[in-house]
Amino acid sequence: MSVVTITRMGAIAIVTVDNPPVNALGLALRQGLWEAVDTLDADPDIAAAILICAGRTFIAGADVTEFGKPPVAPHLPDLVAHIEAAAKPWIAAIHGSALGGGLEIAMGCRFRVALDTAMLGLPEVTLGIIPGAGGTVRTPRLVGVAAAVDLVTSGRPVQAVKARAMGLLDAVVTGDLRAGALDFASAALNQPLPLPVSARPAPVADPGFWADQEAAIAKRAKGEMAPLRALAAIRKATELPFAEAMAFEREGFLALRGSDQAAALRAVFFAERAAPRPAHLKDVSALPLRRVGVIGGGTMGAGIAAALRDAGLPVVLVERDALALERGLDNLKAIFDGGVKRGKLAPEQAVARMNGVTGTTDYADLADIDLVIEAVFETIEVKRAVFADLGRSCRPDAVLATNTSYLDPRLIAEGLPHPGRFIGLHFFSPANVMKLLEIVPTPDTAPETLATGFALGRALGKVPVQAGICEGFIGNRILKRYRAAAETLVRQGVAIADIDAAMRQYGFAMGPFEAQDLGGLDIAFLQREGARLAGQQVAETLGDILVRAGRKGQKTGGGWYDYTPGERRPQPSAEVAALLAGAISPGAELEPAEIAARLVAEMAAEGTAILSEGVARSPADIDLVEIHGYGFPRWRGGPMFASHR
Ligand code: 3HC
Ligand code: NAI
Repeated sequence: MSVVTITRMGAIAIVTVDNPPVNALGLALRQGLWEAVDTLDADPDIAAAILICAGRTFIAGADVTEFGKPPVAPHLPDLVAHIEAAAKPWIAAIHGSALGGGLEIAMGCRFRVALDTAMLGLPEVTLGIIPGAGGTVRTPRLVGVAAAVDLVTSGRPVQAVKARAMGLLDAVVTGDLRAGALDFASAALNQPLPLPVSARPAPVADPGFWADQEAAIAKRAKGEMAPLRALAAIRKATELPFAEAMAFEREGFLALRGSDQAAALRAVFFAERAAPRPAHLKDVSALPLRRVGVIGGGTMGAGIAAALRDAGLPVVLVERDALALERGLDNLKAIFDGGVKRGKLAPEQAVARMNGVTGTTDYADLADIDLVIEAVFETIEVKRAVFADLGRSCRPDAVLATNTSYLDPRLIAEGLPHPGRFIGLHFFSPANVMKLLEIVPTPDTAPETLATGFALGRALGKVPVQAGICEGFIGNRILKRYRAAAETLVRQGVAIADIDAAMRQYGFAMGPFEAQDLGGLDIAFLQREGARLAGQQVAETLGDILVRAGRKGQKTGGGWYDYTPGERRPQPSAEVAALLAGAISPGAELEPAEIAARLVAEMAAEGTAILSEGVARSPADIDLVEIHGYGFPRWRGGPMFASHR
């Protein structure tokens, strides 16, 4: 079947695009649209064309799968120009998302109407590129410089009503898009036509605007190239004639399209889309998820309960006694109140979120629950006792999950009736914010239970990644190696602050030492001490020396750094230097890039070991873990991607 079909409604042609799943602008669609312009221009009975799409969305952009290959004509900018120059005016009728090349096609049309539920945007920078078919040149002509800069450099889409207010749309319709577009067309054709967007005057920016934007975007983008290049293209659009600005945009688009950063972001884009529906589970059905139980209302339990409520699932929260329950419910309420304070939730939404939570200390209240997530203290005895209760109280088909970070899930599940329903679901703190969910099956876990873990991930909008059983699963195991490697550099004489600065320069929000100061050094210390007590050989770390001296991080006024009370700015510490003097051979200096290269190589080496043991299923999964759980810069693709460039 053709991807473009034309039907005639009197003098109006309806051009329907049908190129599933998202009407991406692959070669066949570009050709089809090109020919549609020619066909309609040659048809004397046609006065105008409505461009509308079948399926879930308007054209969602260029076909990203073509980006690794040489461009083939008709090129997108030429197609947009062809539509814009058509003798018959085109009207874009938008539902779902008009993104990237899709919005650029719409801007080539003489008019744009959209359903009130539609989203419009230029997300190219999130793929490491800039718009390549007039997005930076036509957008400012429609919405002005400031709004164009915001749209293009952030990549964030806007809703139809806002897009209308900005000038990106001519009309917003509700209900039947096709009927609304036809009405719009009849009215519009009785008026003089507006100029094509390319012929409209370019706006002029205030003095100082570009320098201010450049400084702000450079700060936000860190090492990411696309946002600054996008800004430069918009600037050219306001300073050069249309054709020259188009040439500048295209040059930037093609250069970035071939860059490592774009390749990395594309790989992440496809990995993220593949993650929620892994191929090995495609024939396995998940169990229904109607009500979920959470055991423990501490940091993690409250965060997990919040994530469940945000997804609309009713929650039963179980604590060990009335006082702890009150604290747990307060923790949860504090999360929603924080959402209200930050403007993310309306006060009545926060109330509705809490109303969907049943707090209890009685496991009998879990009798009809579909899935339970345990988030109690990280102690095998406590967890086992909880699962013994769950085994007695829950339906035999209820999925029972542990959020343990380090304990062996097999030991937690020992003795549980129907062990096929047991699984590890490892959330990251704060659990209602962090996207990563490690899903850890035991050898007994049934395929339906595993599929239900992924279904939960999808319901919560998480990035689910399957991990095998080992200490720390995928993420915390790599974190341990990363921290150990950073300590090795310190022992070799590299300054702590230089290591943190190097990793920030690489793209992390924080370096390894300042991050430990924020989270606390004591958790990992206690874990090492536990292993030592259990008779394992665990070498003394530099962190151990600091914790033994009472330096547990910001909460004790100092860890790897000193902190002035009330401030979070790390300051190099003379006390730390003295404490560690015996363990350090002074003198080594490394360039920041060399420091980052060494630490990332260590992460990748651990990743390779993890892969060879079957703990992770693919390098892409490891990269998703690092990006969504540990702040690895997305535009570098993750440690596995970065180490293979
Ligand atoms: N090219 C190729 N494939 C794409 C694609 C694209 N632009 N966008 C989505 N897909 C594929 C996905 O990989 C997925 O494939 P799969 O089913 O085989 O896994 C399938 O379409 C469905 O995607 P989602 O699961 O993301 O579907 P949703 O319904 O959840 O979301 C969407 C739809 C909002 C359109 C979302 O897919 C999206 O944001 N896509 C990316 C849009 C984008 O970035 N466009 C700009 C491209 S760059 C550009 O246009 C350059 C131009 O300026 C020259
Ligand atoms: P926490 O100490 O903040 O909360 C634990 C809660 O469990 C407390 O509210 C306690 O009252 C409750 N509890 C204890 N025994 C109970 C019982 N028998 N029945 C019901 N409730 C009981 O601990 P946190 O940080 O929330 O950790 C919980 C689990 O999540 C641990 O296994 C931890 O390893 C894991 N985890 C923690 C992360 C973190 O960053 N804090 C990240 C990922 C996992």
